[in-house]
Amino acid sequence: MELTGRNCVVSGAAGGIGFAVSEKYAKSGANVVMLDVNMKTLERAVEKIEAYDVKALPMVVDLASVAEIEKAMEIVDQSFGAVNALANCAGVSLYGDLLEYTEKNWDLSLDINLKGTFFLSQAAAKNMVKHGVKNGKIVSVSSQAGRVGEQGGHAYGASKAGICMLAQTMALDLAKYGICCTAIAPGITDTPLFRNYLKNGAEMAGMTEQEFEKMRAQKIPLGRFARTDEIADLIWFLSSDKANYITGATIDITGGNVNV
Ligand SMILES: NC(=O)c1ccc[n+]([C@@H]2O[C@H](COP(=O)([O-])OP(=O)(O)OC[C@H]3O[C@@H](n4cnc5c(N)ncnc54)[C@H](O)[C@@H]3O)[C@@H](O)[C@H]2O)c1
Repeated sequence: MELTGRNCVVSGAAGGIGFAVSEKYAKSGANVVMLDVNMKTLERAVEKIEAYDVKALPMVVDLASVAEIEKAMEIVDQSFGAVNALANCAGVSLYGDLLEYTEKNWDLSLDINLKGTFFLSQAAAKNMVKHGVKNGKIVSVSSQAGRVGEQGGHAYGASKAGICMLAQTMALDLAKYGICCTAIAPGITDTPLFRNYLKNGAEMAGMTEQEFEKMRAQKIPLGRFARTDEIADLIWFLSSDKANYITGATIDITGGNVNV
């Protein structure tokens, strides 16, 4: 198996995409550090990962706190040693009308999605450099909403566009250690985060949720939303040795929505 014995860290590991990636890592023989703020869903997710006969290390961490990130990564170092790959999957999508958008939602979006991604990547990179990891990988989940504007997606879009830029700047700084940094920009993927977006998006577009969902699917050349396992496959590929010559890039995975 491609990742046997490697140690992979996943943030947002209890969520739709984060869990699918954790499962994909585990299926290919990697031990998985599972970070999430939601203890209940995390406990259920960890049980499923342990069934693959790999080590799973769950930790409740608020990605908006740099102190919590650093503490968690210290524990990772003590328990697992070297980290081979990090998948930054934690995120919140707080859409809202510009005239009513609140400072609280702005700060939450930027702190969790962008600051959390940067400082968790920094902590993982420090671990990789300390342990002399060869071909380390940092894959961060941006979004189609960070590539093209979406109604009400002010803070979300800005945080996700920031992640595409971080892939480039981190790639430049970490190239000398052989660490590759990439981002992926998924289109709509059916997860709890999408259900939350659907509610806000429909409200802002003046449609029912069913109408809004149908309209969004019709805009996609491939005619459907992504499945979490399809997103996980791409993150897995970018975490593996098959992607040793890809760095600084953001890969769109949108069923053609932003590409054609
Ligand atoms: N679902 C989509 O349509 C879609 C599209 C493009 C990009 N994305 C991105 O993919 C990533 C995963 O999204 P998802 O759809 O799986 O969402 P999800 O809501 O299912 O999962 C997100 C996870 O992040 C965790 N999280 C939230 N705040 C946190 C915090 N402060 N600290 C630690 N963990 C926290 C949640 O508890 C949850 O388990 C997100 O970054 C999202 O922006 C999703």
